Amino acid sequence: MIDFKENVNSNQKTTEETRQQMSFLGQAKELVKERSERRGYPLTFHVTTFGCQMNARDSEKLTGMLLAAGYVEKETEDADFVIYNTCTVRENANNKVYGRLGYLHGYKKQNPQMKIALCGCMMQEDVVVSKIKQSYPFVDLIFGTHNIYKFPELLVSVLESESQIVDIWKEHGDIVEDLPSVRKYPFKSGVNIMYGCNNFCTYCIVPYVRGRERSRQPRDILRECERLVKDGVVEIMLLGQNVNSYGKTLQQEISFADLLKEVATIPDLQRIRFMTSHPRDLSDELIEVMASYKNICPHLHLPLQSGSDTMLAAMNRHYTKAHYLSLVDRLRAAIPDITLTTDIIVGFPKETEKEFAETLSFAEQIRFYEIHVFKYSRRRGTPADRDPDQVPEPIKGVRSDTLLELTAKQSKEFRARRIGKETEVLFEEEKEYEGRRYWIGHTREYVLVAMRSVESLENRILPVVPTEFLTGEVLLARTADSVL
Ligand code: 5AD
Ligand code: SF4
Repeated sequence: MIDFKENVNSNQKTTEETRQQMSFLGQAKELVKERSERRGYPLTFHVTTFGCQMNARDSEKLTGMLLAAGYVEKETEDADFVIYNTCTVRENANNKVYGRLGYLHGYKKQNPQMKIALCGCMMQEDVVVSKIKQSYPFVDLIFGTHNIYKFPELLVSVLESESQIVDIWKEHGDIVEDLPSVRKYPFKSGVNIMYGCNNFCTYCIVPYVRGRERSRQPRDILRECERLVKDGVVEIMLLGQNVNSYGKTLQQEISFADLLKEVATIPDLQRIRFMTSHPRDLSDELIEVMASYKNICPHLHLPLQSGSDTMLAAMNRHYTKAHYLSLVDRLRAAIPDITLTTDIIVGFPKETEKEFAETLSFAEQIRFYEIHVFKYSRRRGTPADRDPDQVPEPIKGVRSDTLLELTAKQSKEFRARRIGKETEVLFEEEKEYEGRRYWIGHTREYVLVAMRSVESLENRILPVVPTEFLTGEVLLARTADSVL
């Protein structure tokens, strides 16, 4: 047991900030109520999320605050308040946002009271903000990643103003906790353990838009997890850009392995996942903790990025292929049923056929359960963008297809090996495949499984036996004999 007394969140300023924002929420509520009454029906909102799990969690916070202000959630974007929580990790994510702003403008013409807000990583880029100011004047509010906790204050301003409000901070402030938030699923939740990243991989824009790495106090994280479990959550995903370096910025240094151990001992917490791990910082201590607690899921997302040492060095990843392989060996020795998933970038500047072939054969050797393949996308301000030896798009396309083919084949083989073996699934939601409804959920190893059931299986963890493929990505299962 670690003594967390040293790390007690004694930051008066953040508590004061929370109080202030709660007071703004009160003001927003009055304004929303008044307008709803004037209109004769409740004002509605919609939050659209692009990008990663961190953004998904931020959107839950925004949703929580809008609900607390009295808005009613709407499934479609023809709402009175629409927020796009954007991502800028690759250029196509940006293009999607510009493309969809046109639709929003159409809705706004029909409903001039409509407010449009943009936030998230894309808004931390000066060029993006200039472009929106110039070409999309109908956007009412633009804010960034560092001041999302100020949303109640911004909401009041935007409700009271007719002009475009832009509030972007270049630096992060304090970590402000305890503002309203909701969960997309009642039974699983993400919990932020740290924000930002200090790694500066040469292709990546995240350190520029999310700021320097800072960890939340362990006490606050544990308190949030305990509260979630009391509220019915059975699965928690600990979130950070680089969870393996958790704690390095805290006064009392504590490792991610220490924190994970504490989270794993929370009574009734059935499943713990975490992302994202950096291969450089993944410790033996962490592997040991993963192996020792049954509620830590045997699944690890461990971005490889490239299987060529030359490329890894150029990417500033600080590990070699040999190091990655030795990690995989240690992980599989300690946790034999572990599934490994990864990210790989193809077409990084100067990547030749030889280097790509190395990546391909390394991926084949590791046998990942899933590979997320990304074509290198130039990000303004990053070192790799300045490299004159960019790889032509068609070559990136061919490399991406080749790797996707490999991962499709390996994933399928992996899933096929689970057929006939009893496994445990947390059922999440109902979904339709070819006109029939199924309950779907994930195994502890993160394999997607579907089962027919007339009664609701939502939030139930059940032993099942996969019997065949429902689609290439989903296994069809029946209830295990052990529960019949
Ligand atoms: N181009 C392509 N892929 C990228 N990623 C991050 N930056 C870029 C980029 N500029 C990928 C990495 C990372 C994942 C979240 O996105 O593989 O692990
Ligand atoms: Fe980007 Fe690298 Fe940080 Fe991940 S570790 S967010 S890829 S800089």
